[in-house]
Formats: sequence, C-alpha cells, structure tokens
Amino acid sequence: MAKNLIIYYSRRGQNYVGGMVRDLAKGCGEWVVEYLQKVMDADTFQIETVKSYGVDYRGALLVAKPELDRKARPELKAYIDDISAYDKIFVVGPSWYGLYPMAMYTQLERLDFAGKTVNYVVVHEGSGLGGVPESMKESCKGAVIGENLAVRGVEVEKLEAEVTEWAKKLL
Ligand SMILES: Cc1cc2nc3c(=O)[nH]c(=O)nc-3n(C[C@H](O)[C@H](O)[C@H](O)COP(=O)(O)O)c2cc1C
Repeated sequence: MAKNLIIYYSRRGQNYVGGMVRDLAKGCGEWVVEYLQKVMDADTFQIETVKSYGVDYRGALLVAKPELDRKARPELKAYIDDISAYDKIFVVGPSWYGLYPMAMYTQLERLDFAGKTVNYVVVHEGSGLGGVPESMKESCKGAVIGENLAVRGVEVEKLEAEVTEWAKKLL
C-alpha cells in the first residue's frame, strides 16, 4: 500500500476567521489533516517554529509580515530530512499574506522531492491559493506538483466531504 506523508503547519490561538478575530482551540488546518488521515494511511509531520508567533492575532501579523518581506526561513523545532519512504506528499498550511508561512518553506526547501508527487491544501480567509502554487514549484525541488485545494477556514468544520473527495481521487 502506498505510504503517504502529510506535512503541515497550523497555528492555534487567535486568528482571523469569518471576518472577525476568534480564539481557536484547534487550528483550521488541523481539521483538514484529520480529514486526510481518515482516508489515507499517512504519517504526519507538524512544522513548529522555535520562535512562537504568540496566541495574539495582531502580534502574529507583526512577526509574520517582516519575515515575508525578507523571505526569512525561520528555524524549526525539528526537521524531516528524508522522505524517501513516502510515495505521495500532502502539504497543508494557511495563507499568510498570500503564501504559506515562511517556516513551511524552511522545511520544504530542505527536501529532495525527486520522484514524489506533492498535493497541497491552502487554508485561507479570502485569498484562495494566492501565490502558493508558484512558491510550491520553486520550493519543492524535483517534485511533480499535483493537485491543490483552497479551503476557507471559517467553513472547515463543514468541509469534510469536500476534502475527502479531493483526497480520494489522488490516492
Ligand atoms: C500572520 C497571518 C497572516 C494571514 N494572512 C492571510 C491572507 O493573506 N489571506 C487570507 O485569506 N487569510 C490570511 N490569514 C488568515 C489565515 O489564513 C486563516 O485564519 C487560516 O484559516 C488559519 O489556518 P490555521 O488555523 O490552520 O493556522 C492570516 C493569518 C495570520 C495569522
């Protein structure tokens, strides 16, 4: 049976959801990862930065924007360096200023994706896929970039069917 890997970033705490700032006990992307795990045999790798963005939404913006502007590659608590055991890679992360958080690229740029297909989900509040497709082509060296899905965070609790239907076609 094909072995899959889900690489994801999701931030709990205050976030911009449905036009307002809300406190999330579970990040929107975490819902997506759980849906994916229900339809596939997958290991998961959660991207966590050494430096916290804090639980405060506006505080997170203040840290994230300069990182974006200088194309920072924030240090992670742990890295995955070998994905040779996996056939398909799924990436899940939020839109932060139209791209994945810079920490996602810290991880993706370390990997050799030769022979791997990468499908990815962008969780957002209006930006859709934004610049993520272009960034995935640049950051996933050697990968076949497969399908993508944009998911609105505010609706994520109702989107299990949509996410699983998308994923099943890729297995
Ligand atoms: C630093 C930061 C920047 C964001 N920038 C955008 C954006 O450009 N476009 C957008 O639609 N949503 C943006 N959002 C909202 C998140 O993408 C949205 O709340 C998402 O559902 C969060 O997923 P998570 O809970 O898995 O981290 C931003 C949120 C944060 C914290």
